[in-house]
Parts: sequence; C-alpha cells; structure tokens
Amino acid sequence: MNGRILIIGACGQIGTELTAALRERFGAERVIASDIRKGNATLMASGPFEIADAMDYKTIEDIVYRHKVDTIYLMAAMLSAIAERFPEKAWNLNMNSLFNVLNLAKEGKVEKVFWPSSIAVFGPSTPKQDTPQQTIMEPTTVYGISKQTGERWCEYYHSKYDVDVRSVRYPGLISYTTEPGGGTTDYAVDIYHRALKHHHYRCFLKKDTTLPMMYMEDAIRATISIMDAAPETVKIRSSYNLAAISFDPEESAASIRKHIPDFKITYEPDFRQEIADSWPQTIDDTPARADWDWKHNYDLNDITTVMLKNLKPQYG
Ligand code: SER
Repeated sequence: MNGRILIIGACGQIGTELTAALRERFGAERVIASDIRKGNATLMASGPFEIADAMDYKTIEDIVYRHKVDTIYLMAAMLSAIAERFPEKAWNLNMNSLFNVLNLAKEGKVEKVFWPSSIAVFGPSTPKQDTPQQTIMEPTTVYGISKQTGERWCEYYHSKYDVDVRSVRYPGLISYTTEPGGGTTDYAVDIYHRALKHHHYRCFLKKDTTLPMMYMEDAIRATISIMDAAPETVKIRSSYNLAAISFDPEESAASIRKHIPDFKITYEPDFRQEIADSWPQTIDDTPARADWDWKHNYDLNDITTVMLKNLKPQYG
C-alpha cells in the first residue's frame, strides 16, 4: 500500500479509534478522516479531516482523487435500534455508502476496501450457540437486512469484478473514547458510565440476555489484521464471524461490583429486547482464527478494569 487511507465515518465509536490506530501506524498525513460532522477535539487535531456525506459519490470520489487514497474503511452506518425508527433512511445510508466505495474499487480508483458487517446478519432461526460461519441467516431488523445484503454485494463485487473487499461481523463493541449510538449492545458501554455516575443502571435488556461482545482494542486489531493479510488468505469475501466473549447484563454488573460494591442494576426491557433475542449468544469464529490468525485478548474482567479506570476521571 503506497497511497493514503480514507476513513468514512471517522467520528463514530469505531472510526475514532481506528483513525487513531492507523495514524499511529502509518503517520497522520497518510490517514484522511471524514464524517458528516466534526469529531472530538483529539481526533480533529490529529490529522487531515474532510466533511463528507457517505451517500454522496462525487464528494467521496473527489476526496479519493485529491488525497491519492488507495484504501477505504467505510465505518458510517445507522445501527440496529435507531434503524428500526428510520428504516428507509437506514437502508439508504447503509446500502448507498457501500455501493459508493465498492464502485470506486470496481472502477480502479481505490485498491482495497474494509466494510464492517455485524452479528445482526443472523436472525431468530439461526442456531444461537456457537453460531457457525455458514448457517441460516434470516435477519429481522432493518440493520441486519442491510448488513446481510451488504455481505452478498461484497462477495459479488469480489467474484465478478475482482474487488479486494474485506469484512468482519463485529459483535457488540465496548470502548470509552467515543460512545456508541443507537445500537442494541450499547447497554454494555452505558453500564460503566452509570456505574461511575449513579452507582445504578437501569438496563433496557433482561438480565439473562447473553450477547457476543468485544473490547474495542481487539476489534481494531482484527480490522487492521484482516486488511494486512495476504489477499489469498482472505478466503471469505462476504464477512468473517469474529468473536471474543459473551456475557449477559447480570455478569457485566457482577464484574463491576468487584470495583464498585454497592452498584445496582435494575431491568426495564424495551423494544431492543426483541432485537437482542433475535441474535446469537455465542459465535464460532474458527475461519477467522485459521485464515488470518485472529485471537482476542480481553475478557470481561479485563474490559471492566480498563473501562472504569479510563472513565473515572470524567466523573470525578
Ligand atoms: N452493536 C451493533 C448494534 O447493537 C450490532 O452490530 O446495533
């Protein structure tokens, strides 16, 4: 890779940390951050930034041309819970932004594309435990339908037009730098903020709702590893299952109580419960581990320790 990297959706939960990691590795000037709005002060001060709507092909093409971009990470998307409120908007954003970058690659304007999929591609008819790479996929959310469709298009562009697109199905991602927005797994981040602020969290999922989760540092490492891998080792061109740990809100609360003994959690499930119930509980990611040496580092107690330590200063 000789050209520059463009991150679309650089101000979101993943984009912020991906931008920082790629800048650290390749140098700030080689990594162009872009989003529809400005990001946090650290991100804005760390290197080149362009305002861009991921659905606007011309603007993205212009940035690629001006900055000599050869690799795109498309991190802009509307997540599961919010997409249920704005189905058409979510579909348009999630699909059109993907077509824009796939078409840039098809036309030879960029060489390599990363696009994230999600555990949301699975649905109620999918086996819930050790969900295999290839299985029944009947997603029931707009977000899941957009991700599953996106996976099919990625594979299609790879096989028909030789587009070098790579993807992983992220589980719920836990991080302290930028908060998630509009997802079903967001509780696993919110819980730490509330634990520090109020010693109490009102959870929007039931206590035994087990979901696959991962610490952001692991997710960023997975993302960069699959992009680093030799093309022939990336055998799956739809999207790889990617797993670290699985836990439910009770287990998350118990890990917090090791640091904040009087922490309380109460449960008021809302519409997000149905979304969570449609997703797998544990994921089998054997192909990712075999093809490009994926391995996670953080378990739940590690995550709790870093989350509380890093969020603490914010709450005094
Ligand atoms: N974390 C996402 C969500 O909850 C799933 O990919 O929507």
